Amino acid sequence: MITDNFQRSVSYMRFSVTDRCNLACVYCARKDISYLPHEDILRYEELMKLIGLARELKVSKVRLTGGEPFARKGFVDFVREVHAAYGDLDLRITTNGTLLAGKAKALFQAGVKRLNISLDTLDAAKFERITGRDLFWTVRKAVDECLDAGIGVKINTVALKGVNDDELPGLLELARKNPLDLRFIEFMPIGHSGGWSPERIWTADQILDAARNLADLEPVQEPTEARGPARMFRIRGGAGRIGLISPLSNHFCATCNRLRITASGGLRTCLFSDREYRLRPALRHPKLGIEKVRRIIELASKNKPMGFMLLREKIGSGAVCHTNMSSIGG
Ligand code: 5AD
Repeated sequence: MITDNFQRSVSYMRFSVTDRCNLACVYCARKDISYLPHEDILRYEELMKLIGLARELKVSKVRLTGGEPFARKGFVDFVREVHAAYGDLDLRITTNGTLLAGKAKALFQAGVKRLNISLDTLDAAKFERITGRDLFWTVRKAVDECLDAGIGVKINTVALKGVNDDELPGLLELARKNPLDLRFIEFMPIGHSGGWSPERIWTADQILDAARNLADLEPVQEPTEARGPARMFRIRGGAGRIGLISPLSNHFCATCNRLRITASGGLRTCLFSDREYRLRPALRHPKLGIEKVRRIIELASKNKPMGFMLLREKIGSGAVCHTNMSSIGG
């Protein structure tokens, strides 16, 4: 098991399978972004080795992210392979939902039982302003297709004051009518994609207060080990739930159980830190290989910071870390 100096242990790893994305959301990526060359991206066999190592280190949950994971060639086959090799692994995917049309049944068969889909608005014109692409209905239909195929859907909505705070009634309605979790994420100052400013913060408590005026919410009590960073609420009389993820107003660093691996094989122990430990050279080295990678992960994890301290220190200057969210994978 991987542990750190704050007595936290790692049970969850996120792997970005590509830094490329077909959207350029204002809060996440920059339009002029340059992508990594092909040889710098971890090959699927290398990802497989790292997931195998994660299993040995008692990691029980793995999330595949991007960029946009479905933009990488062969991604569905890779998911199928991971599922076949590690059937007991809690395998999840975060996607923007734009490339899922017609694939939901195949995905379910490939072992995808749960998907996180990013969706910040229910207004097609606003979707285009946020993401740069006119694909709202593509994503909206993908949500329905996934639900129909039996895939559990979580919607991630970045809470943006002045952008989508007027849409709370519609977003609540989506979660009331459909058996899905809709989670608002406070807008974090990650990278230099622009757009972040204190005035854009719509806090979890503000959302909750407003939501309570619109729906009858009942807190969901989850056992500690099953609890993610979201505070969840059932909507009485409805099919789904809403959740609040509050990295800014109520951080969850003390229970952080995760590590992130970037598409180029960089280990990031904290979303708010630029410190990246390069695993790829060791992984590709003929003599070092996975054992060396294990030692780097174990040593790096010891020094995993308490991100809220970094946030507190740096939030005045805008970005807390320099890497855009699009290349960390959320
Ligand atoms: N603040 C909060 N959430 C963000 N995401 C991307 N950038 C930010 C940000 N700056 C969200 C995406 C996606 C998830 C992985 O992270 O919308 O749903």
